[in-house]
Amino acid sequence: MKVLVSDSLSDKGIEILKKEVDVDIKTGMSPDELKSCIGEYDALVVRSQTQVTPDIIKAATNLKIIGRAGVGVDNIDVETATQHGIIVINAPEGNMISAAEHTIAMMMSLSRNIPQANQSLKSGKWDRKKFMGVEVRGKTLGVIGLGRIGAEVAKRAQGMEMNILAYDPFISEERATELGVTLTTVDDIVVHSDYITVHTPLTKETKNLIDKEQFDKAKPGVLFINCARGGIINEQALAEAVSTGKVAGAAIDVFVNEPPEGSPLLEQDNIIVTPHLGASTKEAQVNVAVDVAEQIINFSKGLPIQNAINMPYVKQEVMKVLQPYLPLAEKIGRLAAQLMENKYERIELSYSGDISKRDTGPVTVAALKGVLEFAMGSSVNYINAPVIAKERKIKVIESKSQTSESYSNLIMLQLSSNGHVKTVAGTMVGTNPRIVQINEYSIDVLPSGHMMLATHEDHPNIIGPCCMVLGKHDINIAGMQVGRIKAGGTAIMVLNVDSDISDDILDEIREVNGIIDAKMVYL
Ligand code: NAD
Ligand code: MLT
Repeated sequence: MKVLVSDSLSDKGIEILKKEVDVDIKTGMSPDELKSCIGEYDALVVRSQTQVTPDIIKAATNLKIIGRAGVGVDNIDVETATQHGIIVINAPEGNMISAAEHTIAMMMSLSRNIPQANQSLKSGKWDRKKFMGVEVRGKTLGVIGLGRIGAEVAKRAQGMEMNILAYDPFISEERATELGVTLTTVDDIVVHSDYITVHTPLTKETKNLIDKEQFDKAKPGVLFINCARGGIINEQALAEAVSTGKVAGAAIDVFVNEPPEGSPLLEQDNIIVTPHLGASTKEAQVNVAVDVAEQIINFSKGLPIQNAINMPYVKQEVMKVLQPYLPLAEKIGRLAAQLMENKYERIELSYSGDISKRDTGPVTVAALKGVLEFAMGSSVNYINAPVIAKERKIKVIESKSQTSESYSNLIMLQLSSNGHVKTVAGTMVGTNPRIVQINEYSIDVLPSGHMMLATHEDHPNIIGPCCMVLGKHDINIAGMQVGRIKAGGTAIMVLNVDSDISDDILDEIREVNGIIDAKMVYL
């Protein structure tokens, strides 16, 4: 096995690789240089610098596995890798303590003006009045995103006698109680917190989660921290809120563009910045390098790997039969989670027809991964999905029936929360995945890309006006299906579209007479 390491990786990881496989270290290559040599390698190890684009993947004719020494796989085109049968692995736990400690360091630096005071003293001044600070004891910290890092930040802040408010729509009250934090809404956090720190992945839902509206409502003197991903806090709005004094200051480690050339955040004295250093500790870099190196060695020996993002480890013969069902199950899960949009306490999978005769364990895990991914992004994988579900007290139930009324095989997923149930079912027609049920509606759609779902009254002159709205905004419809329960009742329209539909355009659709609701889902 030949491994290419294309970003700098801790020596400990390199040593592990070198004991067992051929390793070439070539850092700082241009995309063309990488493209011209990648065909020689079976494995590629990267951090965040190497961009593993579809172009690179297509040239990687021997590549079997890509290892990301870190959590975020934003620099890897996972979908193209999956299409080419290349496993993508990451190291989601190795740097969580470092990221949590960096957050605390940022909070303390903000409270005591440490970077500003350091700069002032070194420029020859002895200014003690200007840098009067505040204690954190007794203050309220709002934690948005209570996953691995958010929870570690909360624990450390409690050690400093802070009160913790948290918002995470996918965390149960039970988990919050275990952590000693009070679950509430973003609005409540904004109004009552002295410090607010974000620890979510960057998704469509979390992009600009903190924007002008939240700054306007915020408690005077509030301080914001972002050590998660650039864009969760709107950069322009934050710079403005700090310059007008609405927000007292901020500490930012991550940016929409990195490096953040010309960013308004670099212009304010009250905004302290670090160049994406959350995971930059000796310990974290050793952890993630060792983790990825060990997984690559396991893979080379045919042993299970711990953090495969896009494929489970199952025996080759079993995999041949189950392989087509895995992406289908993931998409069913992803769709159900987007319909629910909130926490859920139960996921039920029912298999009928041919598939029920197989070991459906990996298919259930694929569905679970699809559901959880909506909240957790790339930190959820085939190995940790069941563990995360268990930690979050989500019940996973499987049932099987060898007969299926309308399809030779059917996977049905039901997501339940407080008596509300969302249902999605799908089947394989030859090699094509189809979604055949959404809640109570029978349908037949290809689960792919951007889809608009609109529930509406079942009468004429609804679909045409909706299509006119999309046409007016130059949105191309690639496929369309309507399902209804009975004539004259309610129906669902599902459109596969070539590009995203913004919230403003969705509002226009919602105004069409007879439309009950419209939303986008992304598969
Ligand atoms: P995680 O998946 O363990 O936790 C993320 C949490 O966010 C989950 O509990 C999820 O339920 C919650 N969430 C999802 N959508 C939400 C929403 N709309 N509102 C509120 N909460 C929501 O991830 P993690 O390992 O804790 O990482 C958190 C972030 O930190 C990620 O963005 C990761 O990429 C980033 N990170 C940054 C650095 C760095 O160097 N600065 C290092 C490691 C991780
Ligand atoms: C991660 O995703 O692991 C962190 O942001 C740190 C990094 O990019 O290395």
